[in-house]
Amino acid sequence: MRKRWLTLCLLLALLGPLAARAELPRVGVGAYSGRDTFITSLVGQIRERGQGRLDLHIVYAQGDQNRQNDQILQMIEDGVDVLMVNPVDRVSAVYLIALARQHDLPLILFNREPLREDLAAYDRAYYVGIDPRRQGELQGELAAAYFRAHPEQDLNGDGIIQYVLLRGEPGHQDAELRSLFSLRAMTAQGLRTQKLAEETAYWEKGLGQERMAMLLNAYGRRVELVIANNDDMALGAIDALKAAGYFAGSQAIPVIGVDATAPALEAIAQGALYGTVQNDAARQAQAVVDLAVLLAADQPVDADSYPFPLNERVVYIPSQAITQDTLP
Ligand code: BGC
Repeated sequence: MRKRWLTLCLLLALLGPLAARAELPRVGVGAYSGRDTFITSLVGQIRERGQGRLDLHIVYAQGDQNRQNDQILQMIEDGVDVLMVNPVDRVSAVYLIALARQHDLPLILFNREPLREDLAAYDRAYYVGIDPRRQGELQGELAAAYFRAHPEQDLNGDGIIQYVLLRGEPGHQDAELRSLFSLRAMTAQGLRTQKLAEETAYWEKGLGQERMAMLLNAYGRRVELVIANNDDMALGAIDALKAAGYFAGSQAIPVIGVDATAPALEAIAQGALYGTVQNDAARQAQAVVDLAVLLAADQPVDADSYPFPLNERVVYIPSQAITQDTLP
């Protein structure tokens, strides 16, 4: 009798964790690419923070919207409880929203912001990201502060800062709005600027390097400031600047990015990257995971249940500027 009881206890102990695991909400996670530094870190954080709370199934779309649509259809067929999608093309999110609605599944979009009217069409669709306007402003404020402290870096002494801009993917809200608002903030801060040129480098470090090398060929020492829509492109630009002899001895040039990725923080510590603006992957991941847990349980999402700023089903995680003086 005692032996049978022990066997039963042992069985229960073994099955317990399995049963608990099976009860976790099933979540299909679709990311636009597995090769993007920031997205890799964000998805890694979602995985970490979802542990023990969500049963996550993560797939990558390799930059192909059709592939992503198929992946999401497959997740629905597999019976997920919640969808989390980082769309390839933010405008195509309208299709994903309609699909989720048709299957009555909660949908959390992240990092690539759907159009507000698309999001409004389904009351179980949410967006988690950052405010790219504010990030652009912080970049512009960093630039203005730099030239207030280093007027000698107006190399030709004309009272105007000649700059080049490295842009992320066209149509991505973060590329468009960071570009616009960084310029507005420089002007608002009283910094006179002239954009020598802008190049699109699709968020990529390799392209950032290539485009910056081209810009240096065309403009050389006329470039006094580099603004990049993200850190990877800023780090690529720094590689090109180093190859052209900058950052050796006293030849510095301010380069400003966004994201605060680990390699960017290292470059700030080394004095190559002047500054960046945080794109807080840890808090965005926490906001996505907490939201999925609530939605899967059909719980209300409001100020009592959810500790993140929520406005018409949009969550913007705040960002901060980082330089050597404020390195975390
Ligand atoms: C980040 C970029 C990233 C892009 C991907 C942006 O918010 O700043 O580094 O490549 O999102 O969608």
